[in-house]
Amino acid sequence: MADITYDTSSRCWILQMEASSYCFGLSEDASSLKHIYWGPYIASAVAVEMARTQVPLKRPFASSEGAIREEYAPWGRMRFSEPSLKVEYADGTRVIEWVFEEHGVEQSKESQTLWLRFRDRAYPLIVTLYYRIYDGHDVIERWGQLENTGGSGPVTIRQALSADWQLPVRKRYRLTYLHGRWGKETQVAETLLGPGKIVLESRQGMTSHQFNPWVALDPDACATDESGEVWSAALAWSGTWKIVIETTSYGEVHFVGGVNDFDFRYWLGEGTRLVLPAFVGLYSKEGFGGVSRRWHAYELEHVFPEPPEAVRPVLYNSWEATAFSVNERNQMELAEKAAGLGVEVFVVDDGWFGARDNDYTGLGDWTVNPEKFPRGLNPLIARVNALGMRFGLWIEPEMVNPDSDLYRAHPDWVYHFHQRSRTQERNQLVLNLAREDVQAWVFATLDGLLSEHNIEFIKWDMNRYFSEPGWPDEAGRNPERVWLDHVRNLYRIIDELRCRHPHVAFESCAGGGGRVDLGILSRVEQVWPSDNTDALDRLRIQEGFSYAYAPRVMMCWVTDCPNFVTKRTVPLRYRFHVAMAGALGIGGDLSRWTQQEMEEARGFIAIYKRTRSVIQNGLLYRLRSPRAGSVAATQYVARDGSEIVLFVWGHSQQFGETQVTLSLLGLEEEARYTDAVSGTTYSDVFLAHHGLPVSLVGDFDSHMIHLVRAAPSR
Ligand code: DGJ
Repeated sequence: MADITYDTSSRCWILQMEASSYCFGLSEDASSLKHIYWGPYIASAVAVEMARTQVPLKRPFASSEGAIREEYAPWGRMRFSEPSLKVEYADGTRVIEWVFEEHGVEQSKESQTLWLRFRDRAYPLIVTLYYRIYDGHDVIERWGQLENTGGSGPVTIRQALSADWQLPVRKRYRLTYLHGRWGKETQVAETLLGPGKIVLESRQGMTSHQFNPWVALDPDACATDESGEVWSAALAWSGTWKIVIETTSYGEVHFVGGVNDFDFRYWLGEGTRLVLPAFVGLYSKEGFGGVSRRWHAYELEHVFPEPPEAVRPVLYNSWEATAFSVNERNQMELAEKAAGLGVEVFVVDDGWFGARDNDYTGLGDWTVNPEKFPRGLNPLIARVNALGMRFGLWIEPEMVNPDSDLYRAHPDWVYHFHQRSRTQERNQLVLNLAREDVQAWVFATLDGLLSEHNIEFIKWDMNRYFSEPGWPDEAGRNPERVWLDHVRNLYRIIDELRCRHPHVAFESCAGGGGRVDLGILSRVEQVWPSDNTDALDRLRIQEGFSYAYAPRVMMCWVTDCPNFVTKRTVPLRYRFHVAMAGALGIGGDLSRWTQQEMEEARGFIAIYKRTRSVIQNGLLYRLRSPRAGSVAATQYVARDGSEIVLFVWGHSQQFGETQVTLSLLGLEEEARYTDAVSGTTYSDVFLAHHGLPVSLVGDFDSHMIHLVRAAPSR
């Protein structure tokens, strides 16, 4: 049971979670919060004793605030490490001096939320810090709220991060993070920390392909995938963000994160509040695998909009097959074929609207193209539904092509500066979603689309980063707020659409995996991790993705060969096995698939449907990393332990090694498991200690093994 207590004698708060504890206390003069403990579970009495025995750190050239390890540091006094909060008051005062006022705990069925209120001694700023923990989990959601209580004009916020995480002092930490670019997202990178700062960030207006807002730190680089202490954190924010990992000259490591302060300024008007996004932290002593499984469990239960046991349907998407040349005839033909395979959602991608024959035109004109769909979309939707599938549609509502009716009518609706060019990328510009009229227009357009058609799936795309993020009409009235308001209004639109059209599922796509984070994941059912659908490259992208996010939301398509990104050709079976490791989709041109390929695909989809609840929602073990050699393997265990799915991929055979033996993990003691295909039965000891031999012959061979736990013999 999650539990939060306050010890009055030592003035410390103790957060007790499933297998970890967290503790911090109030300084003597009530002007700061000092971090005390974050690690494996300890009794509350031990935490209190630690709080009592805290020895004040004496450091030349630093005040007491600058020396203690603060939970959340407002800039001011002798603080020189990365602060969490920096504001400017209307009279020019630029530092905060606050004092603790009050605290409380709010209970809900599954969580407890601690709040602590601070007030500036002289100015009308109240800062409330929040900590939320959940029964059965080890995550701590932390965020803050800033409130201008009025009387002294607006408070200008220069930097407002969500949390400061302090790590126990160890010899040296290793940082693991996810980086990439278009077509190469979520690549696992690691580096040993030395004195100084590492900044991971997005200045792109969205989460970005370059870095994903997720980190993991382990002491002395000794954690493996299944052992060792790891502290991890992830941001629930889909706009510009930053995480700063800092090692002080005394060897202490802390990291702060939240909305990026680059080019940022936010006027907090009198009587208004700003709620900051959550920066979620998590501890595990079971290595990176333990961390991932904890992230996945938290996401399934408390982040994703669907219940933990829900499964994503098998999807078909027409993009790689028909690109912009969609029309009623070719989509109907693809739909017939897709239905024959067992597909459950049929999605028409880009090209169905306006004058959209290529990427130069049409974005912003969200009316059905009359040449491509003379009868509108409804006859196609009716056919898709009659074939037993849901209908899905691609949109990119935050964008406009200069060659569009929308732009011709509203050239001021895009981000721009006076006297500056409007940089086009993919021939498009970004709509200023911070504007009320643009927000209202986007909502009304999509609401209309969803009201007039039986659309049950929306792929929400975003194919460029921000440039010239100006808003000339608001000059002198805080136009820099667009960095925040674009995302807040995006969230508002999706939330409102979900409310009005609860049967519609959403996918977040941003030219692949440019917008994958806990913020967007709390309002969409799935994400598109990468435009790169090459099966071999995907193994690396999917591995990195799995460090932070659950397989259920990871959409993976089987597409045609040679692959459009890598020009590589790999067997259909291998492509299926890679795509089946997440939420399965088909993206190939089915009109060109042979009878034999269709037959094979039908078989894979049928097996996938039988096993997908284990794959999408089970416990994931990364047995062999695709970074480590020519064989990769991932194992999924049903949460009740009753089934196991194992994928093994051999990419390039060398030295005649035609067999790999894999020791399985997460097995039940004294249980027996039966191979669902061959009927062979294995003991847990055999699978875990001897290991399961799997033969891999030649290049791009792969296997899926489905084991079912046998009923215990009496
Ligand atoms: C980028 C997406 O990632 C692709 O899947 C596809 O939807 C195109 N946009 C369409 O323009």
